[in-house]
Amino acid sequence: MNYQWYPGHMTKAVRMMQENIKLVDLIIELLDARIPLSSRNPDINELGKNKSRIVLMNKSDLADPAQNRQWVQYFQEQGAHVLEINAKSGAGLKAIDGLVQEACREKLERDRKRGIVNRPVRAMVVGIPNVGKSTFINSFAGKACAKTGNKPGVTKGKQWIRLNKNLELLDTPGILWPRFEDQEVGMRLAFIGSMNDEIIVQEELACDLIRVIHRYYPEAVPGRYGLEDGAWLQSTELTEEEAAGVLAGIAESRKCIAKGGEPDLSRAAALFIDDFRSGRLGRLTLEWRGISSDE
Ligand code: G4P
Repeated sequence: MNYQWYPGHMTKAVRMMQENIKLVDLIIELLDARIPLSSRNPDINELGKNKSRIVLMNKSDLADPAQNRQWVQYFQEQGAHVLEINAKSGAGLKAIDGLVQEACREKLERDRKRGIVNRPVRAMVVGIPNVGKSTFINSFAGKACAKTGNKPGVTKGKQWIRLNKNLELLDTPGILWPRFEDQEVGMRLAFIGSMNDEIIVQEELACDLIRVIHRYYPEAVPGRYGLEDGAWLQSTELTEEEAAGVLAGIAESRKCIAKGGEPDLSRAAALFIDDFRSGRLGRLTLEWRGISSDE
């Protein structure tokens, strides 16, 4: 399948982000921990140059804990300020304040020398669609407001959320469009639901997902759907035919049967993709350090 991203409506979002970036000191870049490199938009380096930056690997609850550690180390080696978080539950959010101070140390020092004190760092959240930007803003702001107590902390109109005396957050995130030439990157973005699902053939996506999961976690699919037979179980790389056979096996195991008794592959595909995205296949990272095209 050819994975494409149609940027059409993104132009306005990009222009707005360029305007907003001018207002901030710090960029909070959200990545998806299941595909840390593919969920990164390389244009942020240009858009955010001269700004401090922290990297948050979100949805770490859905990703492989060992790989989360590997990737945190990778980003640290690149000189980034990085944390793994779960924006939904709030896990990891407490450590962000310290990371912000670290990332903005030079700026704070410059301010101090110029006699500017107590000016909070202004930040904005950026990331590709569906990476968890709104969830993050809600839970981070909610938490901070609860912590500082009394005030709601939200200054409407102004669009800034006062998190504490050191940090203010723009209430609208910047949407980064996925950008890739590599089809493998487009495919991984489709797995996590960051491409428009309507333009993607779900059965083909499911077959690609079966192949990639099998490459990294050969136990995951047979384990969940009770598939115990077949030579494919011993293969390291599945062929397209084998993957299609596995999808048929999932259809059978989940009683997705079309009229006439044939397996309903389209329903099985939707069910399987949803199982993956919801973490029901386990905590899976689909981009590993040091393997194939990965870093
Ligand atoms: P966006 O603004 O970047 O487009 O993303 P948004 O916050 O809307 O989040 C997209 C989906 O990802 C939401 O699920 C949200 O709950 C989920 N999500 C965000 N952060 C995390 C996380 O750290 N862990 C997990 N497991 N999920 C996360 P949804 O299905 O669209 O909504 P809902 O069913 O959760 O309400």
